[in-house]
Amino acid sequence: MKKIAFVLVSVLCLNFLSKADEGMWLPQLLGDKIYANMVKQGLKLSKEQLFSINKSSIKDAIVLFGGGCTAEVVSNQGLLFTNHHCGYDNIASASSVAHNYLKEGFWAKSKQEEIACPGLSVQFLIKLEDVTTQVQEKLKGIKPTDVAAKLPAILAELSAKASEGSGYEVRISTFFKGNQFLQFTYQRFKDVRLVGAPPESIGKFGGDTDNWEWPRHTGDFSIFRVYMAKDGKPAEYKEENIPYVPVHFLPVSLKGIKDGDFSMIYGYPGSTNRYETSFGIKLKVDIDNPNTVSLRDARLKCMYAEMIKDPAVKIQLAGYYAGVANYWKFFDGESKQLIKHNVIAQKEKEEEAFTTWAKTKPEFDNLFTNIKNNYTNWQPYAKHRVYINEGILGSPLLAFANSLKALDNALSAQPQKPEEITKITNATKTAYDKFIKAENIVSDRNILAIVTKLFYADVDADQRPQAFYTNLKTGFGSLESDETYTKYAKQVFDNTFLLNKDAWANFITKPDTATLHKDLAFKTATAFTDNYTKNYAKYATEFNANNYALNNLYLKGVLQMNKNKDMYPDANQTMRISYGNVKSYTPRDGAYCKEICTVKGILEKYKPNDYEFDAPAKLIELIKNKDFGQYADKKTGEVVVGFITNNDITGGNSGSPVLNAKGELIGLAFDGNYEALSHKIAVDKDFNRTICLDIRYMLFVVDKLGGAKNIIDELTLIKN
Ligand code: ARG
Repeated sequence: MKKIAFVLVSVLCLNFLSKADEGMWLPQLLGDKIYANMVKQGLKLSKEQLFSINKSSIKDAIVLFGGGCTAEVVSNQGLLFTNHHCGYDNIASASSVAHNYLKEGFWAKSKQEEIACPGLSVQFLIKLEDVTTQVQEKLKGIKPTDVAAKLPAILAELSAKASEGSGYEVRISTFFKGNQFLQFTYQRFKDVRLVGAPPESIGKFGGDTDNWEWPRHTGDFSIFRVYMAKDGKPAEYKEENIPYVPVHFLPVSLKGIKDGDFSMIYGYPGSTNRYETSFGIKLKVDIDNPNTVSLRDARLKCMYAEMIKDPAVKIQLAGYYAGVANYWKFFDGESKQLIKHNVIAQKEKEEEAFTTWAKTKPEFDNLFTNIKNNYTNWQPYAKHRVYINEGILGSPLLAFANSLKALDNALSAQPQKPEEITKITNATKTAYDKFIKAENIVSDRNILAIVTKLFYADVDADQRPQAFYTNLKTGFGSLESDETYTKYAKQVFDNTFLLNKDAWANFITKPDTATLHKDLAFKTATAFTDNYTKNYAKYATEFNANNYALNNLYLKGVLQMNKNKDMYPDANQTMRISYGNVKSYTPRDGAYCKEICTVKGILEKYKPNDYEFDAPAKLIELIKNKDFGQYADKKTGEVVVGFITNNDITGGNSGSPVLNAKGELIGLAFDGNYEALSHKIAVDKDFNRTICLDIRYMLFVVDKLGGAKNIIDELTLIKN
């Protein structure tokens, strides 16, 4: 008996302990063992060169780009490299049918030609402090199941206090499910300009077919520049701002790579859930993922049908479509890989081992029974929630209409608070401009029809908004027939004042509830969301509250159990380092994937005029003529387009620098491979790969295709 317990415990430790290359480490808190392991694998830099608070170090060249990507500074004039898919919205916003930078690409040949990107900002990390004690002090006396609800306000209060008068932004992030709190101080720069982007047929070559797949021939990069005021401080866009002078910038290596080389990736991974329980994974695989995927599939088809008809619609919907499509494929693949890699069984084993370890510790009594019950109680409503978020609110019109609830509530409040109304009215004006610019009526009308139909067909009959469907049946026909929903959608779109700019202008100048309550789009959206809010949201709240408390306790135990080990926390959009090697792999039995792919593959995949596999004629010519200049790979004589490493990264790392042992830039991380789409939950060391753009292909495109020598000249190139 004892022996079994011992074996189980060591299995657990093994699983939680980072395997060779697993782990997204906080650079400032890099343990000695981890650092020693990096050195053993080839790293040639000191800890101080990786991260230092007082001296210039690599961390100073890494920024959080926009809302959820990474970029790196590569020149002494604030030049930034990131992915094409990270700059995508900004490239699309700068585009018109006449100046279609998505289609044609864009190269600023001088700073004057660079394009301002309203709304885009980058953030530099200034410092990091452990504030666990302060947060725990505030949490004293709060019931564990109340923490989830109270924590956001506590963190907001503490960070507001910490940033007061500093000009910096402070955010406190939660680690190990609330067992640790770290405070991050950032400096945000808001004048960021577009410098270069390849045509989409390079930047997104392979489209959604190749997305999340290796081998990959996408030139997924774009180039920006960060500007500052003359006094060196961050500033809003102003023509006279000057290029940012960085504390550190990355040199770029043209030396190339080989299988086994050390590789290190810095960046801002968004989220992982490596300590998820078997129950959470079951919910994901059974309900959350498949329903999200089928609803996204339906919406994507509606958008795609309009995008292929009209280049203006393509520009209009491109960014939104890409985002929905990206995770549509991800969630589908994630479920498949979780099943294939038996992750639920792995987790069950870990849970058994934990229970054995915790036997003598009453604090953890019944932990997994409680977790299980919590999931069982929530399960009947889980699908409904997905159908609200990914279905009903997947119609941009309904999502906007639903957002007017805030205004409706403020107007209905007794007594009214005029200041509150003005504040919400102003925010609503801004949101409307964004909505109407992105609104494509035909696509959205079809979305509305399909999601109301699918909701009827798929969500538990008892949980539907009954009055809505009764009226639909009376007014429009059989609920089984597609035509009913099409007719209804037309009625909504023909009548809503939200699509009539004059009527909207009248309303928003003097908002009133009567106009809102009569509006068919508002009525439709709120029929669903009110039904959910009134009757079912309480289960979600209860589920989340319990989940926080139970997971917090579980992780407390896990940390105790592994107290002598280096543990890495889940990704939470804070700066991390991951290290590993350039590495080939076997995606399935009998197949072998090389660690690099070259421009030869572009010729193989090239399909003229195809939506996904077209390529610029000039690129094809350059490749055929082997006009590669200094970017040719010495071994193959080709240009290496991409390579793979076994670094542990996830969404948010997009655009991250891939560095060699000396901290020189060898590529940009831009994707994960299909066989390891379960990576948010569990890393499989045989399958997990990061897909990187080789920096030499990027510079080949900038130089030979774009003719932007000015960009190349700004870089520090390391040739041998
Ligand atoms: N899968 C990539 C990521 O999440 C994004 C790729 C964008 N390309 C696309 N075809 N949707 O980082």
